[in-house]
Amino acid sequence: MSEGVSQADRPQAATAAGSDSGAGPRAGGDLLSKFDPIIHTRETLLAGGVEDPFNLVMEQVLSPTRAICNGRETILLGTYNYMGMTFDPDVIAAGHKALADFGSGTTGSRVLNGTYRGHRDVEHALREFYAMDHAMVFSTGYQANLGIISTLAGKGDYIVLDIDSHASIWDGCAMGNAEVVPFKHNDPGAMERRLRRVPEGAGKLVVLEGVYSMLGDVAPLKEMVAIARAHGAMVLVDEAHSMGFIGPNGRGVAEDQGVIDEVDFIIGTFSKSVGTVGGFCVSNHPKFEILRLVCRPYVFTASLPPSVVATAATSIRKLIGAGDKRARLWANSRRLHAGLRELGFTLGTDQPHSAIVAVLMPDLERGAAMWEALLHEGLYVNLARPPATPANMTLLRCSLCAEHTEEEVGTVLGMFARAGRATGIL
Ligand SMILES: Cc1ncc(COP(=O)(O)O)c(C=O)c1O
Repeated sequence: MSEGVSQADRPQAATAAGSDSGAGPRAGGDLLSKFDPIIHTRETLLAGGVEDPFNLVMEQVLSPTRAICNGRETILLGTYNYMGMTFDPDVIAAGHKALADFGSGTTGSRVLNGTYRGHRDVEHALREFYAMDHAMVFSTGYQANLGIISTLAGKGDYIVLDIDSHASIWDGCAMGNAEVVPFKHNDPGAMERRLRRVPEGAGKLVVLEGVYSMLGDVAPLKEMVAIARAHGAMVLVDEAHSMGFIGPNGRGVAEDQGVIDEVDFIIGTFSKSVGTVGGFCVSNHPKFEILRLVCRPYVFTASLPPSVVATAATSIRKLIGAGDKRARLWANSRRLHAGLRELGFTLGTDQPHSAIVAVLMPDLERGAAMWEALLHEGLYVNLARPPATPANMTLLRCSLCAEHTEEEVGTVLGMFARAGRATGIL
């Protein structure tokens, strides 16, 4: 799974004593033996005859909400296609045109031959979308966090961050070599206590997310940003799961809670509501542009293909006026959340906070059985398990799309009811 939380987002390393299985090509010195525990968990799960939840193939994609999986038409409830932009005719046309006009790839870094007109244009679209002075586009959201965090906070600086932060945030902290101080998830008091302990005069960066992707819960940004400011810390918010959807203009949770002007850096991705691939940082900081020359994950990698930046720019501009889609997505999220609760499932949040509705499973075995039963019903959701999930949870993560119809959400609820009864979870 690429998704993840916490510094523990790596397979548990086997101890040296436990790593001499003798089965590898270099028994004793086999560097892969640290993955034995995860190999064992996987083999045990699959030995029960369950389909591999992490190896599904979308044989054909019919629309933002439908695909053929295992030869069968399946409702997609486990993509990040929140705003359903992947098949938007204007987005597709922009991609085709850029592919024809500019070729399939740039074959170079943004700071050498890899900045085309389209890269400038998508940064312009982001500045319009966020009403901010600067935008810098990366090849993925992962690289945006990796690059911006590691470049801002180096040795001797302090990063205070939520313990449930995405893997890309943790990896950015590790790459920059800053002191990393985690605090309890979504707990402003815990955050303040950590900030108080940062030595006088040290550089401080508080890193938060708008929506946390496993449980779909929203951060109390208003309170947290005020605390960070009071302690003289700079603030970075990752709005990967809220861009396009949350806030009056879809700028995210910081906009929704009225603190977007107090945030120094917003990180986002094109791989969710925008419907393609890429990452970005937007900011009003007057010295922001220097980051283009000093940020290694920006400099030392090839830029996005022209077709990708063209689709992203078109999609972002359409998202500015996508109030109807935002309203439909909220309606879908509320309906699914209420319906699943009524059926008796335990959910990640009491109220719908976002387009993610997490259904808690008792353990991995029953979670995998439920995942498979849903797939047989014709529904795809994400099975998420530790270390990606907090507190050792196994959950079925449902993410809604603005293009799901009311009828589809009703069908999904029927599927959950049948699969829940068949697996004994209900
Ligand atoms: C909170 C968060 N930040 C960053 C990313 C990375 O985005 P990308 O898929 O563009 O690499 C993700 C991906 O799931 C995410 O959930």
